[in-house]
Amino acid sequence: MHWYSVRIMRKPVMAGNWKMYKTAAETSAAIAKLAPMVAAASHVDVVICAPFVNLPAAIQVSSATKIEIGAQDVFWLKEGAYTGEVSARMLTAIGCRWVIIGHSERRQYFGETEETVAKKTVAALEAGLKPIVCVGERLEQRESGSTEAVLEAQFIGGLGALTPEQFAGIVLAYEPVWAIGTGKTATPQMAADAHGFLRQQIVNRFGAEPAEACRILYGGSVKPDNIKALMAQPELDGALIGGASLDPASFAAIVNF
Ligand code: PGA
Repeated sequence: MHWYSVRIMRKPVMAGNWKMYKTAAETSAAIAKLAPMVAAASHVDVVICAPFVNLPAAIQVSSATKIEIGAQDVFWLKEGAYTGEVSARMLTAIGCRWVIIGHSERRQYFGETEETVAKKTVAALEAGLKPIVCVGERLEQRESGSTEAVLEAQFIGGLGALTPEQFAGIVLAYEPVWAIGTGKTATPQMAADAHGFLRQQIVNRFGAEPAEACRILYGGSVKPDNIKALMAQPELDGALIGGASLDPASFAAIVNF
């Protein structure tokens, strides 16, 4: 028995994170190959998150397809003397629709914090982008039993300050760091437990309805051969896929699970 009474249909999102892979020409070729393979997937949102420099090519080649394009990061200010940064307005101006915020690789290697995640999320929403906000524990945190404390701190610190209206515009991604790029997928039950915990955080902060409406993606070694079992968990509303999204046939198999 759930704590909510009305079941809201959550449309799954399958988002490929192409990280620092592919040139612009390789990006165009891969999306052109992928598009017909996912054309019939009306039951899911299909997103490719590409490096900034490849976004124009990705947006152009996906324009008449069901694939939407996202960035992998964004800066929180509108403009200014911030060498190397890209604003949310610059992204929407070229037709970018989504953005990943707070990916564990950015937290780990580029100093991303709860505070920067919060600021970037608000900036993205204000510009009309759909943020995919990532949370997830490291291996030693899971092993020491602090997974829930870590997820709670990341959730409250990163998204707790949003208004309910703002919160309605985000997609959450649970990505246990130990499962990213390692081939070690969380079991469907482990993922569902973490999603359930996050959904309870949403209930506590924003209420039952926003919690029921929020799409929570799982990420970490998602492959064509484990997507069915993961998606069989009602708590999972899609996936954020790294390595297995780079090959069009593999990503299409995940989208069409
Ligand atoms: P992976 O990456 O699928 O290669 O584990 C997932 C991610 O980093 O979003």
